Amino acid sequence: MQPFYSLVNFSNGKVTDYHNKAIRKYKDMENFFKMYLTKDIKANLKEKTIYESYEIRLPKKNGNLSWCTTIIYPGDIAGEYFMTKGHFHKNDISAELYLCIQGEGYIIMQNHEGKFIDCKIVPGKAISVPPEWGHRVINSDKNNKLIFVAVYASDAGHDYAFIEEKGFKKLLISENGKPKFIDNPNYQK
Ligand SMILES: [Fe+2]
Repeated sequence: MQPFYSLVNFSNGKVTDYHNKAIRKYKDMENFFKMYLTKDIKANLKEKTIYESYEIRLPKKNGNLSWCTTIIYPGDIAGEYFMTKGHFHKNDISAELYLCIQGEGYIIMQNHEGKFIDCKIVPGKAISVPPEWGHRVINSDKNNKLIFVAVYASDAGHDYAFIEEKGFKKLLISENGKPKFIDNPNYQK
């Protein structure tokens, strides 16, 4: 393989020559939101785009790095801010680096023992997610996009099952217009 490059647009988060574009609508990730909703509200939100990403994806081979940009749109579902699904890595010894380039929010991390850590993110802030920590990014600004870059081992893989079933220990909700962490009623150790 030859070295190659792509250009990241810091205004809109798009990447030239990407290999994979993913769009996550609410209907693709209903189970990841844990605040309870009426069916009517859900129906109205199904087609809403929560986030999208542009990935430079190298073959799943030990030693390769892949990376992506992600744009999380502003908004909330019953008070729970728009966010990524969140995952552990299938290859759990894989770490990840996040770099925020626009907007503000939080990265939340949780290990297999249930230890939970949140970290505020702002442009220029780089966060190292160690191996064995599940991670999710949340846009806590209801008026602006949150854009970040993530770099990870190409063979890291995504394990969504635990997060989909139980979620993280805490949820970030909007209360009187401000972000506030509350216990996730669905979470059981
Ligand atoms: Fe990851």
